[in-house]
Amino acid sequence: MLKNTLLKATEAGAAELKRFFNGSFVISNKEGINNLVTEADHAAEKAIMQVIQNDYPDHFILSEESGEIIQDSTYKWIIDPIDGTVNFANGIPICCVSIGLEQDGKMIMGAVYNPIMNEFFFAQKGFGATLNNQKIEVSKKTEVIKSCLVTGFPYTYLDAPNGPIQVFEKLIRKGVPVRRLGSAAIDLCWVAAGRFDGFYEHNLQAWDSAAGFLMVEEAGGKVTDFNGYAYSPYQPHLIATNGKIHDELLGIVNGANF
Ligand code: IPD
Ligand code: CA
Ligand code: CA
Repeated sequence: MLKNTLLKATEAGAAELKRFFNGSFVISNKEGINNLVTEADHAAEKAIMQVIQNDYPDHFILSEESGEIIQDSTYKWIIDPIDGTVNFANGIPICCVSIGLEQDGKMIMGAVYNPIMNEFFFAQKGFGATLNNQKIEVSKKTEVIKSCLVTGFPYTYLDAPNGPIQVFEKLIRKGVPVRRLGSAAIDLCWVAAGRFDGFYEHNLQAWDSAAGFLMVEEAGGKVTDFNGYAYSPYQPHLIATNGKIHDELLGIVNGANF
């Protein structure tokens, strides 16, 4: 059963995070100066892929460190073995395994597990979102000025109009709390759980958001690209909110005065 495989694979990856966290492990650099990959990322990815390939050898897999395993299948597993690798490498307990499952190009299930904080988020299309098996819902705030937001910044500076720094500055100058946790998957789950009212980021990859965006939608929130269109994890821009502040935050991200 797909759900069972998703949960097993997430647990298997998370066991590797727990095993290596705060221990010693090899750290290497990808492109950019602080874009890290650790021994734990590779171990977690291997453990996750073993579970999925054992249960469903003919499914398509897209995983951050290994790339694509192309199969002619309606199912595609999208894996981030550790989201929040810089946190992980520094012993900061905000990191997770994130796995989304697509069927015919639509996200049908997602799991995000932070084993250090013991928080397991799960969502299934049409069946809601849960944290440690308890139903979660987005917040009820209606104005950006009264909201608590979260964002992330790319590893290399993105020089564009209304770039990450400009939007951040605009919000901060008005006194809006904008946090930076360092894990897009956890940012999304925390919007789903109502801890944050909104999240935006300018440069994400499919594996960062695949599971988390379904979590927000299934918790009653809204997720779009920067044009306000239905979100696709195959483009970089993401705004996820409780729904009520969505249009206002979308305007701010696109340069509106605030
Ligand atoms: C990163 C995190 C971070 C986001 C970066 C991502 P990684 O993923 O999600 O919050 O700001 O854009 O690349 O490298 O830790 O898997
Ligand atoms: Ca990531
Ligand atoms: Ca990663």
